[in-house]
Amino acid sequence: MTSLNDLPLRDDLRGREPYGAPQLDVPYALNTNENPYPPSERLVKALGEAVMDVAGSLNRYPDRDAVALREDLAAFLNTDTPGAGLTADRVWAANGSNEIIQQILQAFGGTGRTALGFEPSYSMHPIITAVSGTRWVNASRDEDFGLEPGRALAAVEEHRPDIVFLTSPNNPTGTALPLEAIRAVLEAAPGMVVVDEAYAEFRRAGTPSALTLLDGHPRLIVTRTMSKAFAMAGTRLGYLAADPAVIDALLLVRLPYHLSAVTQAVARTALAHGGELLGGVEALRRERDGIVAWLRAEGFRVADSDANFVLFGTFPDRRGVWEDLLERGVLIREVGPPEWLRVSVGTPAEMAAFRTALKQSRGGTAPRTPRAGSVGNSEESL
Ligand SMILES: Cc1ncc(COP(=O)(O)O)c(C=O)c1O
Repeated sequence: MTSLNDLPLRDDLRGREPYGAPQLDVPYALNTNENPYPPSERLVKALGEAVMDVAGSLNRYPDRDAVALREDLAAFLNTDTPGAGLTADRVWAANGSNEIIQQILQAFGGTGRTALGFEPSYSMHPIITAVSGTRWVNASRDEDFGLEPGRALAAVEEHRPDIVFLTSPNNPTGTALPLEAIRAVLEAAPGMVVVDEAYAEFRRAGTPSALTLLDGHPRLIVTRTMSKAFAMAGTRLGYLAADPAVIDALLLVRLPYHLSAVTQAVARTALAHGGELLGGVEALRRERDGIVAWLRAEGFRVADSDANFVLFGTFPDRRGVWEDLLERGVLIREVGPPEWLRVSVGTPAEMAAFRTALKQSRGGTAPRTPRAGSVGNSEESL
């Protein structure tokens, strides 16, 4: 049997593990920060009709530049962030924001170039960076997972990176960055500054978006996704807002026709039903604030969260706690700083199950619903 070692694989890929948040069949999956509310029957019908509409022309390539979709995305961003003043030529879309990040690295990274991130943060940033041949350098966030502008500046000045990643709200900590920290990095960075706002729609009232900084900052890129608040993780649609020149750069690296006609039609239909899809966000915010308060009342350390997940700890044996919850049917994420765990915010029933399982786990109660099979968890975070 041929193994990977027998193949002429790139040296820098040897020994790497494929990305893999566990996809397990469990009663309560609270590990990948999805929106727990599926589309309504009415929307399922509309999505089906949208696919039917394009099905008859699937012999043709899709609109390579996805112009209509980009117009709809720009309109959405202008309602999300009044005053953003975005137009289709300042918005770009791809298969998930991971592909957006990959295109950014293909265009602005590469051999001999450096990307800087502030960890703990989204683990795909360093992974996509490395796979693009770009060097990754890591600076750390503050003790409370924020990023004090002086610390950010010092790291930018030390490393002079070609790309800086700032995640706000940050995964896995939930921390939103103040605009001053982003402004400080923008003023000092010699290259591109990417603000990953995958969770922006969950931010608490009064927390500004980096979209408000786009004017006058042609090296700023703000990335978003329909996978989280928009409840469309299965669609694979990520996007960005930036100066039109940035989109010109991405056109050089994107694959022709990268966004299928089906994806474009489904995403446009979802945007047209944005009111319904985003309708669950307020409930998820409330549920999040409730779980933060409950965990604190139970004596845990909990990071403030502007996202749809909560990082809590500390556990000398976090693997043991993670496994114990899984045995009770609740899958959360072993990610971030050692001794901390992350739970995605689900429906009230899912969060009740999480609270019960955690309490029982602390009390040493025997699991009620033992699971058979592997409970392996990857070190990588989603
Ligand atoms: C901070 C952050 N950015 C980007 C992504 C990628 O999302 P997607 O590729 O589904 O748009 C994720 C997914 O978990 C994330 O947490």
